[in-house]
Amino acid sequence: MKYLITSALPYVNGTKHLGNLVGSLLPSDVYSRYLRTKGERVLYICATDEHGSPTEVAAKNEGITPQELCDRQFKIQQEMNKFYNLSFDYFGRSSSKNNIQLTQYIANKLQENGFIEERIIKQFFSIEDNMFLADRFIVGKCPFCGYENARGDQCEACTKVLDPTDLINPKSAISGSSNLELRETKHLFLLQSKLEKDLQKWIAAQTTWPKLVKSIAQKWLKEGLQDRCITRDLSWGVPVNKPGYENKVFYVWFDAPIAYISATKDWVDEDNQNRNLMDWWGADSDTKYVQFMGKDNIPFHTITFPATIMGAGSEFKQPDYIKGVNWLNYYDGKFSTSSKRGIFMNQAMDLYPADYWRYALMANIPEGDDSNFTWEAFAKSVNSELADAYGNFVQRVSVMNKKYFGDEIPDGGIEAETEKRLMVELEKLIKEYDDNMSALEFRKAVQTLYAIFSMANTYFSEKEPWKRAKEGDMSDVALTLRYSFNLERLCAILSSPFIPETSNKIYNALNLTQDLCKFPEQDIAKELTILKPKHPVSQPGILFNKILPEKITELKAMFGDENVKTVNRHGKELHI
Ligand code: MF3
Ligand code: ZN
Repeated sequence: MKYLITSALPYVNGTKHLGNLVGSLLPSDVYSRYLRTKGERVLYICATDEHGSPTEVAAKNEGITPQELCDRQFKIQQEMNKFYNLSFDYFGRSSSKNNIQLTQYIANKLQENGFIEERIIKQFFSIEDNMFLADRFIVGKCPFCGYENARGDQCEACTKVLDPTDLINPKSAISGSSNLELRETKHLFLLQSKLEKDLQKWIAAQTTWPKLVKSIAQKWLKEGLQDRCITRDLSWGVPVNKPGYENKVFYVWFDAPIAYISATKDWVDEDNQNRNLMDWWGADSDTKYVQFMGKDNIPFHTITFPATIMGAGSEFKQPDYIKGVNWLNYYDGKFSTSSKRGIFMNQAMDLYPADYWRYALMANIPEGDDSNFTWEAFAKSVNSELADAYGNFVQRVSVMNKKYFGDEIPDGGIEAETEKRLMVELEKLIKEYDDNMSALEFRKAVQTLYAIFSMANTYFSEKEPWKRAKEGDMSDVALTLRYSFNLERLCAILSSPFIPETSNKIYNALNLTQDLCKFPEQDIAKELTILKPKHPVSQPGILFNKILPEKITELKAMFGDENVKTVNRHGKELHI
């Protein structure tokens, strides 16, 4: 068995705040890294999501072409991937040649199999903007809940899926003009209604999916599957290979998920020797396919994309597991670019090292429910968990060893009660950590990790090697330090999915070869004696710097007022 892992594709033009990072990019990376430490075969794929009217509109506003905008944003995204240490095997683009070909291929299959139909519809044309408006570029009052700023595709307040013609008092979100005309235009529709039974069966069979994911999928099924328009009157996108469609492209949500497959094809083409697309994507390949995404993406991944794959002949693999993540808020309110609230991925890069963000965000990942980013919680993760527990332990061990034994692991001492207890407790915690990670329960996994850091620190404190040294019991000091180095190795391996840069520092300081960086086996006694006397070690330096209270005050002032909230008329926070 092998693992195929994908993260929802970040939009090129979207606002990339910490909620986007923790929603899919980060957990998918953490999971991929974890599987690799366990020696699993992993293929981790992502790409930029480049098409659609938002890109076209953004480019127009800047006076550049969509291609230029995407080229620039792709580079920016790649820099962020690098900074946050996102370990993709391949990071592609939805505008790639392979994606254009594959999207057209899948559309042809759907057509052949009778799942595409041409329909003439009436769509809003904005006289002021001189274009047909995409659903999301029409705003108005939601007919279901009365929310004033509902978008034509979906109401953010009550989550109902809308048709722009449902809106009361619709206007253009681009110009604000309500000078809209319903004009006739022909489009291709994906006949999802014909696939309803198959989808129902498939979703019912998913017994392991998280509640959030399954309940969203079932809610959509219950509301009845509507046939979906999969083309748009735009120029930036995958061309529709059909006469009469020269001025139309496929809808961005049609071609974007197909890019999971085509980015894998890009990766295959990179090598052209051993790699094979269908080894990974074939419906009956021995791949376990795990997808990561924020909750707004769940309907597309549980209904629309699976329907597309089914209708096209089920040649490609459907996901085995979907990790859906809730919203991350900023002090109980939404992150907002326009009102300068919250932290964006590029700003965070200038403030603290990637590991601080990776750890603190994953400690607080909105798994069960929405969660809040606060500077206080961020500082607590960094200060008490990373600096006080882990960093402090590593520092004490390396300083004391240098003082008494120089640059190698010391010999001597006999294991006693404390070491035996350590083994029992450690074995339990590693098992717990492993269970949490394999169940993709990251929040719990971080808690267990912290418990392991604390245990290592407590072991060292309880042994009081500084006292033993004064008493002249150097063999016990040696034993404590040797065990501590071995604990350090285990901490570094176990935490490497979350804080890979720090783990690398420790791997270097402990002179670990690759084979010594694998996930620990059952036999803890063996794992705690892998680093033997005379093994050379060096100082890793200070691993984490604490965030002081003054700094928190400063950061809060910089990143927005915690008291300002955007709330809809139901008192529910909005996410736009
Ligand atoms: N770009 C979308 C977002 O950021 C996600 C697309 S995921 C994919 O919400 F399935 F289309 F790839
Ligand atoms: Zn509504």
